Amino acid sequence: MSWWQRAGADPAAVAVAPSILAADAARLGAAVEAVDAAGADLIHLDVMDGHFVDNITLGPHVAAALRRHTRLPLDCHLMVTDPADYAPRFADAGADSVSFHWELETDHVAIARRLREGGCRPGLVVNPRTDIGPKMRDVLGAFDLVLVMSVHPGFGGQAFDPSVLPKLQELARWREEDGLDLVLEIDGGINADTAPRARAAGAQILVAGSAVFGGDDPAAAIAALRSEG
Ligand code: DX5
Ligand code: ZN
Repeated sequence: MSWWQRAGADPAAVAVAPSILAADAARLGAAVEAVDAAGADLIHLDVMDGHFVDNITLGPHVAAALRRHTRLPLDCHLMVTDPADYAPRFADAGADSVSFHWELETDHVAIARRLREGGCRPGLVVNPRTDIGPKMRDVLGAFDLVLVMSVHPGFGGQAFDPSVLPKLQELARWREEDGLDLVLEIDGGINADTAPRARAAGAQILVAGSAVFGGDDPAAAIAALRSEG
């Protein structure tokens, strides 16, 4: 059973998704292999275009190259102004999930549909200062995951913002009330101290960059994130 199937059946299932943003950018293949061997459940790829956020990271060709280094799901987080153009390119590169931001003025549902047609899971990302409401609730049936940012996107190594936790609780409530098949993910400042709070609020996928790659024992770091706290 894949992690996605387990998560769908069990809201308490937890997965750790190391963000290679915090890895040695000159050795990404080795970094992916190392966290795969260390017990990661997914690999989180942060895609930044220098417009939506003030940083540039990697394109679809890097995702395609990393695809050959692991069988774990590649979880792409697009911080780009034009997901209609780029989301399908990451799906074609072998991404299992592609998430893009709710803050953008775009046809979110059309992009999500296109991803699903290509066999890729669409995700919606919401920034710390963005409120969620009925407008988002109405489109969630088109998505397989919601990624709640617990830092302002653009850089790794920032401090966790606990004020986003009520959003996770609200999303978990909508999932229940609306019978949605939705996985909840959190990203930013996740470490062994903050992970239990995120999980208690409903997060199932824990993205962690510096907590996994910042030390010399990724297996211990991943195990600490997964433990009940
Ligand atoms: C921030 C990225 C995060 C980041 C997490 O824009 O979306 O995935 O890499 O890094 P840490 O875990 O160091 O906050
Ligand atoms: Zn991310």
